[in-house]
Amino acid sequence: MKDPTPAELAHIPAPPQTLFFGNTLDSLKDLAAFTRSNAAQFGEVYRVRFMGRWRVSLTSAEAAQYVLTDPDKLFSNTLGWDLLTRTFSGGLMLRDFDDHRAHRRIMQVAFRKPALDSYLDLMAPVIGPLIDEWPVDTPMTFYPAIKDATLRLGANVFAGLPLDDPRAEELNRAFMALVASSMAILRVPLPGSTYARGLKARADMTRLLTQLMTERRGGDGTDFFSEMCRAEDEEGRAWTTDEIVAHFTFLLVAAHDTTATALTSMIWTLAEHPDWQDRVAEEAAALGDGPFTPDMLERMPLTERVMKEGLRLIPPAPVISRRSLRAFEWAGIPIPAGTMINVQVGVIHTSERHYTDPDRFDPDRYAPDRAEDRSHRFAWTPFGGGAHKCIGMHFATMQMKMLVRAILSRYRIAPAGDAPVHWQRLPIPRPKGGLPIILSRR
Ligand code: HEM
Repeated sequence: MKDPTPAELAHIPAPPQTLFFGNTLDSLKDLAAFTRSNAAQFGEVYRVRFMGRWRVSLTSAEAAQYVLTDPDKLFSNTLGWDLLTRTFSGGLMLRDFDDHRAHRRIMQVAFRKPALDSYLDLMAPVIGPLIDEWPVDTPMTFYPAIKDATLRLGANVFAGLPLDDPRAEELNRAFMALVASSMAILRVPLPGSTYARGLKARADMTRLLTQLMTERRGGDGTDFFSEMCRAEDEEGRAWTTDEIVAHFTFLLVAAHDTTATALTSMIWTLAEHPDWQDRVAEEAAALGDGPFTPDMLERMPLTERVMKEGLRLIPPAPVISRRSLRAFEWAGIPIPAGTMINVQVGVIHTSERHYTDPDRFDPDRYAPDRAEDRSHRFAWTPFGGGAHKCIGMHFATMQMKMLVRAILSRYRIAPAGDAPVHWQRLPIPRPKGGLPIILSRR
């Protein structure tokens, strides 16, 4: 399918571009400010040139609903997530329509309530030891620390490998090289390049997972990988070895950086708002000292409000991509077939149409009497919606609540210094400087 010609897009408003980079540098420098200023100037539809292609942004909750629920089967994920397809082809998010539905049905088995409860049981005893090692009364950077903790936790709950199993380390190394290579601008496997390291990582990952698969297929493990190796749809269809490797690799990508970012935005807001930190710590203390149990998830409404506010202010997926398979029209503007579409989640999340004083940290906006997130079905949409809505949403929520309870029952959190925290938004948001904080024991 061909990209529309510049003439076919000329009627769609656009900010000024530079000759070679288009709007890539503006987007990389400060995506949130750039998209919000474009939305303020151009309204619901505008276009930018990013990474060599024209992309049309849609900025309203109504547009998000139309694109993500896709009633007219107009929008392709396979063609829309063009920057991910090469490294992660075969991943669930990169499939379309009937093929996607068939694969999602099999994966859903690994996300049912009993499976989620068993992941909780796997994680409960290992979370404490992972964060007990953190330094106290001295500055530390939270983002790398939580990435490391969730990566090690991931090898445990996703692959069923104990924290000290050397294969856990090997899996995590391969995974990180693979993620780094997906962002590589130079996509030629020159010796020593990030891209070449990524190709080797994919081979290492495939070897390791294929070995593990033989152990897990016949076993009774309760980790994710075991569930996926055994999963079948209602007709008894299971995945092939290649499919399991593709799905599992993508699952790690989808799960890891997003959750680490969401936890970082929570800890950032809690460090800056001690009143809320006290409220969430009291809620955690009221759960008692025992191991985490599934019923506790329902007894953490304040933690949930802070989590939702972090996900609103810093959505881990600030843009959701699609490509139009046929021409359509939005807000009276014709959009040709083959157009790359960006649903601007970050703009929707900070729209005054849905949120009062949208830049303010105000978790009580989710209290039942205000429920600002319900002002439109797609006003709060960090996990997307429609057929591709995040399959890991409940898992992510569970993991975040478990970690926040563990952190706040051990430590008080304060910012290290007065410097405001700036977020780099692409490809997945991270705090510049890694979020320096100081922990002290409670
Ligand atoms: C705070 C954490 C997370 C956020 C904000 C998030 C966000 C998202 C979003 C926005 C999508 C939709 C993409 C689209 O429509 O194209 C998505 C899909 C997906 N997510 Fe998540 N995610 C998170 C955590 C997780 C976790 C923990 C897992 C796995 C355990 C996971 C697995 C997936 C998968 C497999 C898909 C593709 C679903 C499909 O295409 O049917 N995510 N996620």
